[in-house]
Amino acid sequence: MDLPSIRPVLLLVTLLPLLGCDTRSPKKHAGTPADPFVVGMSQCNLGEPWRVQMNEDIKKAAEKHPEIKVVYKDAQNESLTQRAQVEEFVEQGIDLLIISPKEAAPLTKPVADVYKKNIPVIVLDRAVEGDQYTSFIGADNKRIGREAGKWASQALGGKGKIVELKGLMTSTPGQDRHAGFLEGLELDKHPDLKIVFDADMQWLEPNARKEMDSALATQPQVDLVYAHNDPGAHGAYLAAKRAGREKSMKFVGIDALPHEGVQYVKQAILDATFAYPTGGAEAVDMAAKLLRGEKTEKKVVLGTRMYTKDTVDRGGEEIR
Ligand code: FRU
Repeated sequence: MDLPSIRPVLLLVTLLPLLGCDTRSPKKHAGTPADPFVVGMSQCNLGEPWRVQMNEDIKKAAEKHPEIKVVYKDAQNESLTQRAQVEEFVEQGIDLLIISPKEAAPLTKPVADVYKKNIPVIVLDRAVEGDQYTSFIGADNKRIGREAGKWASQALGGKGKIVELKGLMTSTPGQDRHAGFLEGLELDKHPDLKIVFDADMQWLEPNARKEMDSALATQPQVDLVYAHNDPGAHGAYLAAKRAGREKSMKFVGIDALPHEGVQYVKQAILDATFAYPTGGAEAVDMAAKLLRGEKTEKKVVLGTRMYTKDTVDRGGEEIR
């Protein structure tokens, strides 16, 4: 056989695996309604309304994708459980992982291990360390913190005493909402503006209530409470109310769920809250793309809105 005539055949054989078949993701299912792709959704804690909303957003978006079936696990606020559940998902043969990790450091390796098995991983809302995952989707927590800081500084006329109730400081939104808040306050320009008490309430309303009791016991004057989420701000409000001091201070939170934070603003419990979109729908659309073998951005940043008593009835205002 003369060589030139077999060359095109050889070329085609060598190129075949590269054409139309994604060598990065060894899929276990066909991606048809009869044999849909299986997406594992690892949720860190379903005990919080915002996370219930995230799973609902995922479920609703997945209804539009008959080629995808989503299976859920709830780590009940334990990083070790979440790690074990991620491993179980891999053993069960998922085609893609979506994870909203409780904490950055303990979930970094489990996520990287899945990614190294060529199973695409979408990290949602809370980040892990490094870049061993396919894509990250979430709002800009530093920016939200900064806007909250600017709003607080302005609302207090540049002077006053602040209590900061932090989210879990081993999770990236807690770290970023704190750092951004400090930037927004510009304490160096406002010598009479001070954070007089701060505590890690770990995103949980009962903890926030307890920490606020301590703040009230030690601080005769508190002008504003900044909590890293709306359950935290609500817990602080309840503590202040019990002490008969809620009218002498402002409350600022984050999340702005329609049936939670936005209602609190309407009821004049909170003075301001900032939307923190769950990213659930975006994650499903991205999962569909990845499973079709398409490329996605490494980082997708979602927007936010601010709600105050002046803007809440018209749906808040966009932060640009
Ligand atoms: C729920 C929650 C939200 C917060 C987000 C940050 O677990 O605490 O209230 O905005 O997580 O990751």
